[in-house]
Amino acid sequence: MTRILVTGGAGYVGSHTCKALSQAGMEPVVFDHLISGHDWAVKWGDLEVGDLLDRDRIAEVVGRVCPEGVIHFASLTYVGESVTDPAKYWHNNVTGAINLLDALTAANVPPMVFSSSCTVYGMTDADFIAETVPVAPINPYGNTKRAIEIMLQDYEVATGLRHIVLRYFNAAGCDADAEIGEVHEPETHLIPLAIAAAAGDRAALKIFGTDYPTADGTCVRDYIHVTDLADAHVRALRQLLDGGGSDVFNLGVGDGYSVREVVDTVGRVVGTPVPAEEDARRPGDPARLVADATHARDGLGWVPSHSSLDNIVATAWNWYQAQTQILSRPGDGSD
Ligand code: UD1
Repeated sequence: MTRILVTGGAGYVGSHTCKALSQAGMEPVVFDHLISGHDWAVKWGDLEVGDLLDRDRIAEVVGRVCPEGVIHFASLTYVGESVTDPAKYWHNNVTGAINLLDALTAANVPPMVFSSSCTVYGMTDADFIAETVPVAPINPYGNTKRAIEIMLQDYEVATGLRHIVLRYFNAAGCDADAEIGEVHEPETHLIPLAIAAAAGDRAALKIFGTDYPTADGTCVRDYIHVTDLADAHVRALRQLLDGGGSDVFNLGVGDGYSVREVVDTVGRVVGTPVPAEEDARRPGDPARLVADATHARDGLGWVPSHSSLDNIVATAWNWYQAQTQILSRPGDGSD
């Protein structure tokens, strides 16, 4: 079986991608330090507990596992924290990536899919963001993602490392079977917070900013189902394993929904209106981020099929109800 090293494979997008790899007949081997990831989310292959900051450990795992391909998710992802503690982000994200790339260079240089973010586009005015829109990140998290993208280009020149960069828009929703799902600590994302508020488990949701230049004054985002994201990773990896060249793809649906539209959908799906209050803008939030997904459709044959807002919210709500049972099982993820 084709063995794929998945750094950060115990996390949200990583674990859904491991399931998709397994369904595609590949064998994921997860490398994760389990600080933000969860051991219970590793179900489709071995788990190597380790930190990318430990050069010897990642070199040892790469040397022993001999992966035919790599998907690199492992990353810190809190935009706000990256602003207050940039050193933590540069150190973890960029040094970790260097250690991984050096380990791959010392091995057989397997091709890599890299988990990047639409945050690299910063405050663009483009209504639909294509890969040709100039990148201009506006926070340290985005800067580290962009730095790694550049690093990959430089390593390719020197080592032949073929790679595909996937820039996600707003990853959302959960596995339809509720085997795995989204668990962040702390949780900062709109949909899980709105669900928890509707379920009565959290105080009212704060709507960050109601004076944006959008139809209803709240921010517009392109929500993409995590199962569709996982599928895109498998397609990108297959392309590289078949000898394809390096590329960059935006992963979004191409439809934008406002915060108020998401809140209304959550209320309808859960069956209880989301208690919500208007609040000030959150620093660094662009008014609108919506993908032009043409290149992913043409280049990867990728057509999102799970990403209607109703299905995103329904699967997230299903997971919200199921996770209480999963997380309370003896010996299961306490982190
Ligand atoms: C951000 C990043 C994205 C990154 C992701 C990682 C930007 C522009 N986007 O997504 O690249 O991959 O985090 O975690 O940096 N909102 C509320 N109330 C809340 C929470 C959110 O109104 O309690 C609003 C936000 O202002 C935003 C929208 O909901 O407009 C979505 O927010 P969120 O789910 O946090 O994702 P992004 O910030 O868009």
